[in-house]
Amino acid sequence: MKYLNLGKNEKVSCIGIGCMRIAGMSGKEVDTLVKTALDEGINFFDHADIYGGGKSEEIFGKLLAEEPGLREKMFIQSKCAIHDGLYDFDGDYIRKSVDGILARLQTDHLDSLLLHRPDPLMEPEEVGEVFDELERSGKVRHFGVSNMNRYQIKLLKSGVKQKLWTDQLQMSLAHTPLIDEGINVNTQFDGGVMRGAGTLEYCRLKGIGVQTWSPLQKGFFGGVFLGDEEYAELNQELDKLAEKYGATPDAIAYAWLLRYPARMQVVLGTTNPARVKSAAKAAEITLTRSEWYALYKAAGNKLP
Ligand SMILES: NC(=O)c1ccc[n+]([C@@H]2O[C@H](COP(=O)([O-])OP(=O)(O)OC[C@H]3O[C@@H](n4cnc5c(N)ncnc54)[C@H](OP(=O)(O)O)[C@@H]3O)[C@@H](O)[C@H]2O)c1
Repeated sequence: MKYLNLGKNEKVSCIGIGCMRIAGMSGKEVDTLVKTALDEGINFFDHADIYGGGKSEEIFGKLLAEEPGLREKMFIQSKCAIHDGLYDFDGDYIRKSVDGILARLQTDHLDSLLLHRPDPLMEPEEVGEVFDELERSGKVRHFGVSNMNRYQIKLLKSGVKQKLWTDQLQMSLAHTPLIDEGINVNTQFDGGVMRGAGTLEYCRLKGIGVQTWSPLQKGFFGGVFLGDEEYAELNQELDKLAEKYGATPDAIAYAWLLRYPARMQVVLGTTNPARVKSAAKAAEITLTRSEWYALYKAAGNKLP
């Protein structure tokens, strides 16, 4: 496994377990998933207060309560700011959300808190005050954002003194607008539309880690591209490289994301322990530049 260093000398695995889909699992199944991950050196677990309407955190919290020794082996992240059909950076709302998250997870601190989706009505100073409080009280150790572009991060930073360690963004071989805009600069191709406003480059410049969500999905939760006829050429290329590296095709798809030279982390969505094991192999694979481009093009992208 490869690890990223975070501020307080914490080591966080470049592959994480996304807990969005664990709400319907039994305690025993979650136990096996978590322990398989830990055995593979994966110590990073990604939650959000809305996953399963709070159930994902609850089931995870029960596991932590039953086996308190597990907590110190983990880097636990959660997110807040989505509720009732809106995005909410209100100070009191963030405060209350964190208390709810901690209660459900049965822990006294979060290793990382992300603001889930940008709230156009955000007041950076108000968020800054809450972050100060959460940091002082020891409830939150690191802060970050999700689904924000460069200017939104800069705006938020104008009122927040903590380092923002993370931007969690949708990215997969079948969803690459953030890469496309950097490849198609100043063209009239669709890929040249600045949907992310240089967010990846900004994250690199500022040392903000990029966490990729839905790493196997096409479109917006449009299904897994592995084995999908619409992505026949991509699947062929993945199979070829899987054979070369002695890995599974999904591991190659994760290695493609990890090859981008920011502080990358892949947030897995699988609930299947065997797939977690094969995914871990991605951390050991460094694709060549030509392999990286071949996969990008096999996914249906053209270079200008
Ligand atoms: N910040 C945000 O706005 C945001 C939004 C969405 C998600 N997230 C985070 O990102 C994580 C991952 O998102 P995601 O669940 O959409 O990721 P994903 O890995 O792209 O999709 C997961 C789905 O793909 C299936 N799958 C995984 N590996 C497979 C394989 N090798 N072959 C066939 N099917 C496979 C899984 O089924 P099995 O379980 O059966 O393997 C599951 O149904 C979430 O858990 C959450 O933590 C964040």
